[in-house]
Amino acid sequence: MLLTVVYTSFVDLAQETKALGFLLSEFLSNHTTLAATLSSLAATYLFLFAVLHLTQNEKEPPLVATAVPFLSPVIGMVKLSMDFYTHMRNKHHDLPIYTLRLPGTRLYIVNSLNLILRVQRQWRTLIFPPVSARASEVAMGVSKDALAIIREDMIADTGFFHTFIKATHPSLSSGPALDRLSGDAMAVLTASLDNIVHRGSKRARMFEWIRHEFLMATTDSVYGPHNPLRDPVNEEAWRNYHPTIMFLMLDLLPHWAFHSAIKSRNQLAKAFQNYHINRRYTEGSDYIQRWTEHFVSWDISASDIGCFHNAAMFALVANTIPTAFWMIYHVFSDPAVTEDCRKEVLKAVSINEENGEEMCTVRARTIKEHCPTLRSTFQEVFRFHGMANSVRIASEDHMLDGKYLIKKGSIVMMPARVQHHSKEVWGEDVEVFNARRFMRNPGEPRLDPVAFRGFGGGTTLCPGRHFATTEILLFTAMVLLRFDVLPGGSEGKWIMPATKKSSQAEAMEQPDCDIDIELRPRPGAERNWRVSFEGAGEAAFVAEDL
Ligand code: HEM
Repeated sequence: MLLTVVYTSFVDLAQETKALGFLLSEFLSNHTTLAATLSSLAATYLFLFAVLHLTQNEKEPPLVATAVPFLSPVIGMVKLSMDFYTHMRNKHHDLPIYTLRLPGTRLYIVNSLNLILRVQRQWRTLIFPPVSARASEVAMGVSKDALAIIREDMIADTGFFHTFIKATHPSLSSGPALDRLSGDAMAVLTASLDNIVHRGSKRARMFEWIRHEFLMATTDSVYGPHNPLRDPVNEEAWRNYHPTIMFLMLDLLPHWAFHSAIKSRNQLAKAFQNYHINRRYTEGSDYIQRWTEHFVSWDISASDIGCFHNAAMFALVANTIPTAFWMIYHVFSDPAVTEDCRKEVLKAVSINEENGEEMCTVRARTIKEHCPTLRSTFQEVFRFHGMANSVRIASEDHMLDGKYLIKKGSIVMMPARVQHHSKEVWGEDVEVFNARRFMRNPGEPRLDPVAFRGFGGGTTLCPGRHFATTEILLFTAMVLLRFDVLPGGSEGKWIMPATKKSSQAEAMEQPDCDIDIELRPRPGAERNWRVSFEGAGEAAFVAEDL
């Protein structure tokens, strides 16, 4: 059996490296030292190949990408980046789940929707907390003492992680706490848009502009009047530290390679530590108050709380910013979509007079529920650009669905892109951005919501989804109502930036380069604008909410 596999794999390898093999054999006839080197390489190869197959249990999901033992998956990941898992799904189309063996670890990649649901149901065996704890250690610089506390029990309801969810999630679900959070963020964004109107117009680098606006609005609403990110030194520190988070999480290079980013991270942690020591959170949102009380109740030190704030910052803005960028891009780069969305959001506006001035009130509920083109574009942004790699760690050996052995300590991964780029679910035009894809005529069945993985799923389903959704939809609506957004570069054409360099620590693709735009106020932009959250409710997009 083993020999068959060795043979098959040699055939694979030979096919993949045919040209190279020919050159090498030419060389071999003349170079005996090289021949000796190559024979020892071949012996190593055979040895690794035997190790790979002898340590693979036949009940585990099928093993693939074995041509170069333990390295083929790494080579594929480097070569294809975020397209690797869709490439593998297309190559091994019939596999609901498969095994990738990397140096020191096993990765089980889930293709089948049915198996994703089964993985999510095993939340006490296939668990998420070790992933958060590892990120806190290598990327956030949390101390050994704090790590010991959070790692003490990662399974029971009484452990640090499960009690964290219970303590904080209610302040992000629907209700007055969420409306206050969204209302505060919208007040900051609306004031910024007012400024542009007063200045006449604005030329901007679109990503840079959105990043600054969302960073300020989101952190102001969460941290309150003493938001540390209002200090430009801290904003700069975040911008310097954030792009390295993925590399820090991979933990492959020594820390001195990220000297400047780590300095920025420590600077931010210090600023948050001061925010904490001075009890500034008591003036912040309900969410940050509950968040802080939780860490304090677990005896986490002030300096570690500073480090954990960096993790909270990542959750808050890392995905919201690129999502807002794509939303503005796709709503404004297609004139028909712009027109339809504008017609829809206009229905959410009522105008009355207050203190002798015209006041325009935008109803959040109408924006969230009764703007089909806007909603569909938002969902398509997630389908097309969403790249969340939901991961779990096996806390013990487990037979998934009674069929597949998941070994203790291994990683189970459910890449969103595999689901979001499935022709079976979305149809032949899966590789095209279709803003109206999610619109349905009355009586028409909706697309399978389980295949929509933009916010992950199961017990780790993103708790910030209502906040992020409200902020992005309302911001887009406000821009539609008050501005024309024109492409500034490349002779006035919208050109979608590539996304090949996206950090895979994030759940949303990021543009490789920025684009120039001009914001021109529309008639009525100079009026007073505000949002009403009366009866705002949730904006349901994921299977769990629907
Ligand atoms: C468009 C914006 C956002 C996107 C695309 C997004 C996406 C995600 C995804 C994919 C996950 C992982 C789920 C899994 O592994 O199954 C997640 C988890 C999480 N998100 Fe978000 N998120 C966004 C905004 C936010 C915001 C604004 C907050 C905070 C208020 C937040 C807080 C969290 C937290 C705390 C978790 C961890 C959940 C846990 O450990 O159980 N997210 N998010």
